[in-house]
This record gives sequence, C-alpha cells and structure tokens, in this order.
Amino acid sequence: MTAVTGPAASAVDLLLLGRSSDPGSERGVSCPGELPAASSPDLVDRARAAKQALGEQLFVLGHHYQRDEVIEFADVTGDSFKLARDAAGRPGARYIVFCGVHFMAESADILTGADQQVILPDLAAGCSMADMAGIGQVEDAWDELVDAGVADGTVPVTYMNSTAAIKAFTGEHGGTVCTSSNAERALRWAFEQGERVLFMPDQHLGRNTAVLKLGLDLSDCVVYDPHKPGGGLTAAQLRAARMVLWRGHCSVHGRFSVSSVNEVRARIPDVNVLVHPECRHDVVTAADAVGSTEMIIATLDAAPSGSAWAVGTELNLVRRLAGAHPDKRIVFLDKSVCYCSTMNRIDLPHLVWALESLQAGAVVGRIQVDEQVARWARVGLDRMLALPG
Ligand code: 13P
Ligand code: SF4
Repeated sequence: MTAVTGPAASAVDLLLLGRSSDPGSERGVSCPGELPAASSPDLVDRARAAKQALGEQLFVLGHHYQRDEVIEFADVTGDSFKLARDAAGRPGARYIVFCGVHFMAESADILTGADQQVILPDLAAGCSMADMAGIGQVEDAWDELVDAGVADGTVPVTYMNSTAAIKAFTGEHGGTVCTSSNAERALRWAFEQGERVLFMPDQHLGRNTAVLKLGLDLSDCVVYDPHKPGGGLTAAQLRAARMVLWRGHCSVHGRFSVSSVNEVRARIPDVNVLVHPECRHDVVTAADAVGSTEMIIATLDAAPSGSAWAVGTELNLVRRLAGAHPDKRIVFLDKSVCYCSTMNRIDLPHLVWALESLQAGAVVGRIQVDEQVARWARVGLDRMLALPG
C-alpha cells in the first residue's frame, strides 16, 4: 500500500490550526499597552477604584449580552435601542465606555456630542451579522433595484447591527434604522413611505417581523444574496417583492433549531418557549412567543412563580435571568449553542485596562465615526428614535 503524504503545512494551515495569528486579518485583537492578566486577583478593586476616580466624567453602558463581571460595572444596562437612547441622554459625560459590540459603540458616537469620546474596551468586539453586509455590496444591491426600475418605491431599513456606513446609506435614501424592539414600528413606517422594503442585514428579523407582525406572506419576501450576481434575483422578482431581505444572520441565534424546541417540550412539560426574532422563521413559529431582548426580560419578570421557560437568546442573559428568578424554571433552549464570542471579548481585564488608561489621561479603544458618514447615519438613527411609540 502506498503511503499518502500531503504537502508540507503552509502558513495558512498553521493559522487554521491556531498556531499563529495574522496581524492583517486580526486588527484590534492585540491590545496596545499593559492588559492585566485575567488571573489578577485585584481586578474588581481596580475597576472600582478607576471608576470612582473618573466620577461623573464617565458613563458605562452594558448590553444585556455582556458577561456578569462586566455588567457589574455598568451604570445602565439595556438592549441596543435603550443604550442608544441612554448614550444620547448623557451630554455631561466626557467618556462613554460601551460594553457591547462595535456597531453599538459607533451608534453611540454618532448620537453623542463632539466633546464626548466613546470607548470600546476591545476593538475586536465586532458582530458577525454586521460583517455580512458591506457598504459596497449595499450600493450594488441598490443599483440592481435602480436597474429593475423599483428603487424609487423602495425604502431601506437597516437593523442596528450594521456598520455606520450602511446606516448613513439608509438615512440618505429616505430609510430608517431599527432594532429588534421596534422593527414592527419601523416596517409599518417604511410601508407608509413606499411599497417595498430593502431590509438589512438580518433576513430572519426582517422575515419574522413582516410575516408575523405585519401579516405579509412568505412569498412576498425574497432573499438578496450579495455573493451572487444580481443578488441571485431577477428584475421581475425584485419588482414583485414587498420585502427584499439581505442574506445575513446571527451566528448565535441562527443556531437554534426546531429540534431544540421539540426536545425541550418533551423534556419539560408545560414549558413556554420564548425566542428572539433573530431566530429562523421555523423556530419562531414553533415557539410560544417571540420578542426582543427587552421583551424577553419583561416577559420573564411578569411570569408567574412556578412557570417553566426555555429561552432562545444569548446565554449570558439567559443565565442571569435564571439567577434573578429562582422561583421560575428558566433554561437555555439549546445546550449546544454558545455565547456570542464577540460580545464576550469585553471582559474584566479589558474593562480595567480601558478605565485605568482613562484615569492616566490616555483614551484607548476610541470609536470615532467619520463626520460625513455620521451626518447621514444620524438621520437614520433619529428617524428610528422618532418612530411613533
Ligand atoms: P438587541 O437589539 O435586542 O439589543 O439585540 C442586539 C443583538 O446583537 C442581538 O443579537
Ligand atoms: Fe451579532 Fe449575534 Fe452577537 Fe448579536 S448575538 S452581536 S447579532 S453575533
């Protein structure tokens, strides 16, 4: 038998094996300066001391998906909508430390004053969904709509989970930003402005909201794939569609499945299945209720003692909710789904590093959106903040 020998491992193979890193593709992963060791026993005291020293100059925002060790130092917690509002409502704070992901910090920078600085403690805390739509791809998609003769009647709506450049495109083209807590209102508003919506970048939030909240049919929705010529759609398909959904998804919520719903129903009698609208349409329809992060929290707060819930959203939040409600049985919908790895990049060492740097007069991890981009992105964000309640 002939021995099969492969070629010597290339640099790429080694990278895939995790033996090295590619500085070109991992910008922001390294942390300039002295990052405290995760094992340092005094991290909590150091974070406390730095926060106290910075006093009123500092405002720390914590997204609900952040780790417990980080949430402990947040002045306010919330979903991306609430945190955008909170950031805009604190003009006195010189430093806004955003414990969340990149697109949220960008939105905070856009909504805050020129004398305020927004800091993301780890610049590598991005969002895989936001990365699924690039501004060049969005401009190409719009050109397809122009060529199909339907751009005029199309209103772009972008989920908060998108780059500032896409928010700016949306603002400039008469559209709005939305979050999971106001997607229904955003879509109702959009259909008052035009007959068709280009929804980016989360196909699931777009489809679930259009079908389950607005009563559109699944056949009213088409999926635009930025990796295919023409998005993989004909001009006739674009003309017939009411919802043109960007082919993007959340790598965490997209992993919940109908079999996880069936499994938990078999395991826990009378369980209520509650999922985020970033889950796939079949999962959402198999669940008992669907709602944004804030809605999930409010539902569990109001649930009767003794009730049982299987929750399909980020694990940090589900674990905290289970701890906060020991009188209710709250379980994670699918044990094989993991934390949002980018949200989890913000940890206590990075928070301490960011706060102590500020204390020493150095701003690290600053998020600064180009003013031209920010001007139009603000239009899209302000439209969202003004949506009827
Ligand atoms: P929210 O809009 O609920 O804050 O969600 C943000 C997010 O990243 C969900 O995956
Ligand atoms: Fe992005 Fe999903 Fe993580 Fe939210 S949970 S930040 S959508 S990857």
